[in-house]
Amino acid sequence: MTFAQDFFIGAATAAHQVEGNNIHSDYWAQEQMIHTDFLEPSGDATDHYNRYAEDIRLMAKAGLNAYRFSVEWARIEPEEGHFDEAEISHYMDVIRTCKENGIEPFVTLLHFTSPKWLISKGGWESDETPGYFARYTRFVMERLGKELRYVCTINEANMGVQVAAIAERYKKQMMAKMQAGQTDGTVQMGLNLEKMMANQEAAAKERMEIFGVSKTECFTSPRTPHGDEIVIKAHQAARAVIRETAPHIRTGLTLSLHDIQALPGGEEKAAKEWAEEFTHYLPAIADDDFLGVQNYTRTLMDASGSLPVPEGAELTQMDYEFYPEALEHVLRKVSKDFKGTLIVTENGIASSDDTRRTAFIESALSGVHACISDGLPVKGYFYWSLLDNFEWQKGYSMTFGLVAVDRSSQKRSPKPSLDFLGSYCGR
Ligand code: BGC
Repeated sequence: MTFAQDFFIGAATAAHQVEGNNIHSDYWAQEQMIHTDFLEPSGDATDHYNRYAEDIRLMAKAGLNAYRFSVEWARIEPEEGHFDEAEISHYMDVIRTCKENGIEPFVTLLHFTSPKWLISKGGWESDETPGYFARYTRFVMERLGKELRYVCTINEANMGVQVAAIAERYKKQMMAKMQAGQTDGTVQMGLNLEKMMANQEAAAKERMEIFGVSKTECFTSPRTPHGDEIVIKAHQAARAVIRETAPHIRTGLTLSLHDIQALPGGEEKAAKEWAEEFTHYLPAIADDDFLGVQNYTRTLMDASGSLPVPEGAELTQMDYEFYPEALEHVLRKVSKDFKGTLIVTENGIASSDDTRRTAFIESALSGVHACISDGLPVKGYFYWSLLDNFEWQKGYSMTFGLVAVDRSSQKRSPKPSLDFLGSYCGR
């Protein structure tokens, strides 16, 4: 099975996770904290900043025809209002290298990381942020816009809302444990509440020293409804700038979308979850050129809410259920309400067994193919991720990549799944 020639088959990365030494970013600062939540710092990452040409050639050799990557705001505007032309030329080189290799560049303007200065000014809960994001977008588009055809404004615009929901659930569980008399500080899961509270106070103090605020509102921090509006406004402001400066570009945002499945009794909860995750964004994105769909697994829900992974199910390194069928389900569900082009901007698994990755891709792509046969406007599929890389707070322990990286030598070793993915490309 192959896809039509104009269907994009690619891989995705994000600047902070692969480039290395993103020193002006909020994530870098948090990774260096004494009271950090990160397993390890990103450091040199996979040195993609210097090795991008080799990585792009690997994709081309395997037959991929598209590459989704992000440009890093913290590099381009390391201090407020100070824009770095050298960093923009770097990204121009990346774009040109893609094109020389027959690869369509898909650029994301914001993939979780922000400049540290933005967080000191209130970050993703501040009314000023959409204006700053629009100014940065203008700088990028005026320089790179003519070379691009596809731009994602914001990666997983709904992530902060999802994090807030998880944090809320977790807090409720803790309270219930304490009310049940488990006040000795230890609860199930080997957590130590007293130590956690003490750490939280110390971390707040440290954040005050580093960021000048005790509560950092990063892109992936638990988000309030006001913050959700800020993100939407930032997207719309960036979209307006793109349309003004580079009207030929097709633009949209991406959303993290679970295949939410209701068990009997769970219908109401499932509908509410889907509304939070997806439908409430519809008015904001109705005018976009495409929607980036990002899916990794399913969520089962009953009347009590989301359920643990079914017993006996195969788990990925992330402890997600291995369930590649989720992608097709999500595409079908989304297309009922969003009428524009759909692009799968992320889908993949973390696994040390590449044969499971290949099986996952095979099943996910057969689902995409079925959607297209039924007339859904799906125009591309990007596997997450090109390289084994920095999985945020989990550090380098998760291997999502089509290409393994030995970080002591930065040597790349393509896995069989890379060629397998390329074999679907219609050119
Ligand atoms: C994010 C990536 C992340 C991936 C795997 C997505 O939510 O966009 O940055 O690495 O999931 O967890």
